[in-house]
Amino acid sequence: MKIAIAKEVDAAEPRVAATPETVKKFKALGMDVAIEPGAGLKSGLLDSEYAVAGAIVSADAVKDADIVVKVKRPESSELSKYKKGALVIAIMDPYGNDAALKAIASAGVSAFAMELMPRITRAQVMDVLSSQANLAGYRAVIESAEAFGRAFPMMMTAAGTVPAAKVFVMGVGVAGLQAIATARRLGAVVTATDVRPAVKEQVESLGAKFLAVEDEEFKQAETAGGYAKEMSKEYQAKQAALTAEHIKKQDIIITTALIPGRPAPKLVSADMVKSMKPGSVLVDLAVERGGNVEGVKAGEVTDINGVKIVGFSNLAGRVAASASALYAKNLFSFIETLIDKATKSLAVKWDDELVKATALTKDGAVIHPNFQPKA
Ligand code: NAI
Repeated sequence: MKIAIAKEVDAAEPRVAATPETVKKFKALGMDVAIEPGAGLKSGLLDSEYAVAGAIVSADAVKDADIVVKVKRPESSELSKYKKGALVIAIMDPYGNDAALKAIASAGVSAFAMELMPRITRAQVMDVLSSQANLAGYRAVIESAEAFGRAFPMMMTAAGTVPAAKVFVMGVGVAGLQAIATARRLGAVVTATDVRPAVKEQVESLGAKFLAVEDEEFKQAETAGGYAKEMSKEYQAKQAALTAEHIKKQDIIITTALIPGRPAPKLVSADMVKSMKPGSVLVDLAVERGGNVEGVKAGEVTDINGVKIVGFSNLAGRVAASASALYAKNLFSFIETLIDKATKSLAVKWDDELVKATALTKDGAVIHPNFQPKA
């Protein structure tokens, strides 16, 4: 049984799907491990470290591999190198990418999307959305501090007082909670908003203040899975009216609002951006799904009358070594469930709920119910 660690073909992706630590764990399960040269370099991991851990470093690593692990969804140029029937496990970004899923199915591989892992206790250790969002939330605050021309903490000095920065976090899931915690550690005065009522207590427990339209719709706004629902036009208008006044007074805004499978909700309009003081900074973590801030550009910092909108994609990738370490652990924990430890062979239980939730393709077809070709 052979597992291969692919080098990401996207030059903008610095993460890697395995670390020397997880290579050792795969070896201990009786697997042969191969890795493409330089796969870990941008995460600070050398080929020699993987070799010491027991991996074969080879340009042909994926050839004949039973399992290929990656960070991003494989492109056509990669798919043609994989063995038919191989398991390919990555962050597949399946929503709205039907053609790419079809190409994966046609290549005859079984693809698994780590981000579709159910959020149940057994799978917590495999939850890539949480492991990566946590770091992205941290990094968003660091990016904002870098772009901000002032200090975050209040400083009382002989030369005068520097006021504490005012930070507003919009969307308080995993990323938002870490953004609040990080901004607080830096000494900012933090407020936060979300449409899920459960969040209020979490925000307050981190020493921040909660701000939201707490009407009947708000009380029902959480799905059984703990995610936000798309809010009505009326709610969004009330929410905008409440936040507009608040936004004017903020130095930093971090937006992280997402609804699974939907475009990101628009929370900060161009007028709201214009209402902010020059020198203020917005960091939009939802940029890859269309953005929460009007005018955000993916991969760029946009300056509007002195207000900066930071639209960097892949913020977790800007803390690549930490992000890779956690992602690699998530992957290992999942792969362990796909293996029969006694016979040291692949034993995918296709009716297991983790497999059913994440398996996208098998035997030449797209099998996931959410991504069936439209009739
Ligand atoms: P997410 O990335 O899908 O969304 C981020 C946040 O944006 C959410 O808190 C959402 O409520 C908020 N949002 C959506 N529309 C909004 C709007 N119009 N205005 C303001 N905020 C808006 O969320 P994430 O980080 O994936 O967390 C979702 C839930 O999953 C949370 O309840 C979290 O605690 C839970 N969770 C459960 C885990 C487990 O049980 N194993 C692990 C991790 C998270």
